[in-house]
Amino acid sequence: MALVMALGWRAGEILARLPLPLRPNRAKGADEPFSRTAPLPMSSSTLSLITSSGFADYTLLDAGSGRKLERFGKIIVDRPEPQALWQPRLAKQEWAKANAVFSASGEDDEKGKWRIDKPVPEAWPVRIDDVTMLCKLSGLWHLGLFPEQHPHWLWMLNELAKVKGETPRVLNLFGYTGAASLLAAKAGAEVTHVDASKKAISWGRENQAASKLDAAKIRWIVDDAAKFVARDVRRGKTYHMILVDPPKFGRGPEGEVWDLFTHLPGLLNDCAKLLAPGGAAMVLTVYAIRASALAFDQVMRDTLKGKGGTFDRGELAIQAKSGPSVPTSLFVRWSALP
Ligand SMILES: C[S@@+](CC[C@H](N)C(=O)[O-])C[C@H]1O[C@@H](n2cnc3c(N)ncnc32)[C@H](O)[C@@H]1O
Repeated sequence: MALVMALGWRAGEILARLPLPLRPNRAKGADEPFSRTAPLPMSSSTLSLITSSGFADYTLLDAGSGRKLERFGKIIVDRPEPQALWQPRLAKQEWAKANAVFSASGEDDEKGKWRIDKPVPEAWPVRIDDVTMLCKLSGLWHLGLFPEQHPHWLWMLNELAKVKGETPRVLNLFGYTGAASLLAAKAGAEVTHVDASKKAISWGRENQAASKLDAAKIRWIVDDAAKFVARDVRRGKTYHMILVDPPKFGRGPEGEVWDLFTHLPGLLNDCAKLLAPGGAAMVLTVYAIRASALAFDQVMRDTLKGKGGTFDRGELAIQAKSGPSVPTSLFVRWSALP
């Protein structure tokens, strides 16, 4: 008897300690043993999904079966797309219109070979708003342009327009072939473009010439992004807009190792010191798989603590003309511009 009483008392104590939603609500009758008398101990919030529907010279025509079919200017390409797990919507005859088809060489989707089925110029123009990017087929599946970033470029121009009383200054880190740099320069900004690859920098200069922006203020710098930023902190430089588009793994021009998960927090800390005190903005885009936008949001928030402003984080995707949209990358955007 004493044992039963002890157990009974313990059971009551345990029930009292349970969160409210799990406690039986005897007052409401046997047919309604549980009722929600308190909010669930969790919260939900949303991630942003920025979906681009392309632009005049770029369309994602279709995706599926691990591939995507895209039009860059006059050229149609068929490339791997690991995220396209569904079935293609367009008929095989449409896919057969591709000028070039990329097959990955092994585990690394980016490396491989292009099979040319219809003539492709060595370089061909792709117009993005007011600038011209030259696309090329190289040994990688990249063509010199990440079209899903178009909404970020438009956002950047919008933010730069808020800078008053001085010429906006833009720092484009891991800038690749310079689409964002050219668009910012065309809008009147002074741009510092940093990339470790001489090839990417000379491709960027070609794009500048193709865009007839020879007089625009762009400093093309071959350097390790982290080293450059640390040096700029010592020089007391500031920028109104910093774009950070790092690969998961890379190397500086002198073999400096870039490992996203190891080096990103330090790089962002230095970037925070380069923000113009009167108002600035920043975009981080990350193509690393097995990562969460929330993790990158948190590291940006830690770095920019005390600087006010607003954050937006989520994914970038491209809407296929026929069929579902294809997710491409994670992003965090911050602005303290008025
Ligand atoms: C193509 S972009 C942007 C990332 C891209 N969106 C992706 O899919 O990985 C990567 C650029 O970073 C450059 N890069 C790699 N390591 C670097 C480093 N340590 N410092 C500066 N640029 C670097 C590469 O040369 C390349 O142009």
